Amino acid sequence: MRRLKGRTAIVTGGGQGIGRAIVDRFASEGARVVVAELNADAGQRTAEDISRKRQAEVVAVPTDIADRTSVERMVAETIRRFGTIDALVNNAGIAVFDRPLDLSDADWRRCMAVDLEGAWHCCRAVLPAMIDAGDGAIVNIISNHAFSIIPGTFPYPVAKHGMLGLTRALALEYAPMGIAVNAISPGYTDTPIAEAEFAKSADPARARAVVEAKQPVGRLCRPDEIAAVAALLASHEARFMIGENIVVDGGVSIRMYE
Ligand SMILES: NC(=O)c1ccc[n+]([C@@H]2O[C@H](COP(=O)([O-])OP(=O)(O)OC[C@H]3O[C@@H](n4cnc5c(N)ncnc54)[C@H](O)[C@@H]3O)[C@@H](O)[C@H]2O)c1
Repeated sequence: MRRLKGRTAIVTGGGQGIGRAIVDRFASEGARVVVAELNADAGQRTAEDISRKRQAEVVAVPTDIADRTSVERMVAETIRRFGTIDALVNNAGIAVFDRPLDLSDADWRRCMAVDLEGAWHCCRAVLPAMIDAGDGAIVNIISNHAFSIIPGTFPYPVAKHGMLGLTRALALEYAPMGIAVNAISPGYTDTPIAEAEFAKSADPARARAVVEAKQPVGRLCRPDEIAAVAALLASHEARFMIGENIVVDGGVSIRMYE
């Protein structure tokens, strides 16, 4: 399918993990993609690999989504190169997990700056071009932490609940202007971050098996399974979906008890 043919998309945190899978899927569907990534090397590598593999225009623009000026520069560069912005995927995020009263002020601010404000900086920067075009899609990658809580993971779910509010507020505000704002909430997904978490354990294979056993489907989510839904939401096929949050967590959050 080439549902994004000729369209321009920005994917934040597209250098690895879920973001990289989204860049790959969008390029395979015909999009020109900007990889807006803090890790400049990872962003460049992803852009080169995927443009070669998909014969697509994929460029890296080093960006810190927590810094509004950096975001505005990236969006200006996207418009300079490609003329339009048809889709934004707010994917970049960090896991900041602690007990509430152990959390430092610096970690609270770091989590909110990346996991909540970063997405707002990006929305704010792309919306004027989308409003002018009367067309656009914003896809926020949130988490099942946006509506369920695991004790000891504070304040990540606070920011992710905020992302859900951001999705719904902007969705209603801009639906009349042809812009669809929606979200995806992945469950435990097999990315370098998950691998790094397992590697911290004395027995990484066992740590992985324990997590897998908790999933109703018996395995972790693959990044390409999130990317497939992101491509649908970024396309015109999903334009009657406004402010939705599609949960892609293998059923883990519908279970009543462990
Ligand atoms: N992996 C999971 O199990 C899982 C589950 C639910 C939700 N999520 C969410 O999905 C998104 C992607 O997760 P992932 O597992 O692929 O993460 P990851 O850590 O593998 O990749 C995140 C990417 O974002 C980049 N990034 C971090 N801070 C940035 C910033 N300030 N500006 C620009 N880029 C920045 C990183 O350099 C990295 O390349 C995150 O928002 C995460 O919260 C992940």
